[in-house]
Amino acid sequence: MRILYAASEALPYIASGGLADVAGSLPKAIRDKKHACRVVMPLYSDIKDELRADLKFITSFYVPVAWRSQYCGLFEGNINGVKYYLLDNEYYFKRKGIYGFYDDAERFAFFSRAILEMLKYIQFEPQIIHCNDWQTALVPVYLNMFYRSNEKYCDIKTVFTIHNIQYQGQYGRELLTDVLGIPEYASSILEYDNCVNFMKGAIDQSDMVTTVSPTYAREILDPWYSHKLDRMLVPRQYKLRGILNGIDTNAYNPKTDTMIYENYDIDTVKTGKPKNKLALQREMGLPEDKDKMLVGMVTRLVAHKGLDLVKYIMEEMVAHGYQFVILGSGDREFEEYFSYMHEKYPSSVGLKIGFIPQLARKIYAGADAFLMPSKSEPCGLAQMISLRYGTLPIVRLTGGLQDSIRDLGGEDGNGFTFSSYNAHDMMGAVDRCAALFENKKKWNEAVVNAMKCDCSWAKSADEYIDMYKSLLK
Ligand code: GLC
Repeated sequence: MRILYAASEALPYIASGGLADVAGSLPKAIRDKKHACRVVMPLYSDIKDELRADLKFITSFYVPVAWRSQYCGLFEGNINGVKYYLLDNEYYFKRKGIYGFYDDAERFAFFSRAILEMLKYIQFEPQIIHCNDWQTALVPVYLNMFYRSNEKYCDIKTVFTIHNIQYQGQYGRELLTDVLGIPEYASSILEYDNCVNFMKGAIDQSDMVTTVSPTYAREILDPWYSHKLDRMLVPRQYKLRGILNGIDTNAYNPKTDTMIYENYDIDTVKTGKPKNKLALQREMGLPEDKDKMLVGMVTRLVAHKGLDLVKYIMEEMVAHGYQFVILGSGDREFEEYFSYMHEKYPSSVGLKIGFIPQLARKIYAGADAFLMPSKSEPCGLAQMISLRYGTLPIVRLTGGLQDSIRDLGGEDGNGFTFSSYNAHDMMGAVDRCAALFENKKKWNEAVVNAMKCDCSWAKSADEYIDMYKSLLK
């Protein structure tokens, strides 16, 4: 099979969230199973020079979007055997940052249209175009609207993956014809609740809609999780699937990770992990104490990550004697709250506001437990990275957290879980974790078992391949 994987971010080139991890590792896993899979993404000016230096210019062409005709340069890169196409237009992508501009709708309409135009200039004829999130949601829409009569395009199937249903690409109706180039007669494809909604268009127009865990695929049929798209999804369940993400187990490997203080594996975790813990405590200004349970959090500081629960009960948790290391940035409410806690309890709460990948790794390696009380979590990668580093996850049972973490109170456990979105239930799970922490023998066994969990792409890549095959029958 031949698959073109379209995403607005992909590692190692650029990342703002979990999508980049997936786009940077799933295509390789599919290739490892002997299918052709290439990636296409924008050439942002924020991509580091070292990575740019290896790109090869292929050609350039013009992309029609509404009345505009915009230049597009096509570059090619190769990472671990996976071919990446990077689409260049300085007007749209030469900026500090990758999203959050007044003209994002226009920028990603251009990108989506450019992906389709690019097919005329490359020696690769995809049978499937796999799109991700609202930034590439117009690919299936434009394909059906403008390209189907062309022989090269008539049989291409499209898959659309929702990584987070909250971000739908919603804009004013006035964009439809002038900016997006959607003819008035077809406006209903993108219109939703009096707005233009990119994700709605893709849900309607693609051959398959997937999301990043089986539980989230069920949850988004419910108004509590769907951010109003349940009305679109319920009648289209026949083409909705949930496939759990994996992680790149080579990139996230405590044995080889150059960003952590000291490398370790299953055989050396017992001595290697405490060294990481003490070094992390030191770096974060906490008392170096191997007997205090150290709870890590690496998260965007936004409400759906469950931070209101943490906020509600943090003082009590501090009173129980736990230490916290928190890394993240986001809403002012939470940044200010955690800064206040850090000042009030400097020997219990370590804090860094920001997106610092090196420190994130040190937290995965150095913390005893990792807290993820998300209100909703499409998949979540941090709980899997924690397992890999022998850090026991404490999670709320939702989305991918429910599909990857089982409570140590039962059979085959690898973490601690709670169900209701309730602060005391969360603390109950943290306290149970602390109780196990006191029993060093059992704790060490649980750590080793966590490290043995298979979080690789191997199984999920097969599920994607089966799904692609079902479309080509
Ligand atoms: C989004 C989701 C997260 C998921 C990631 C990759 O960031 O919020 O849960 O793990 O996408 O699919």
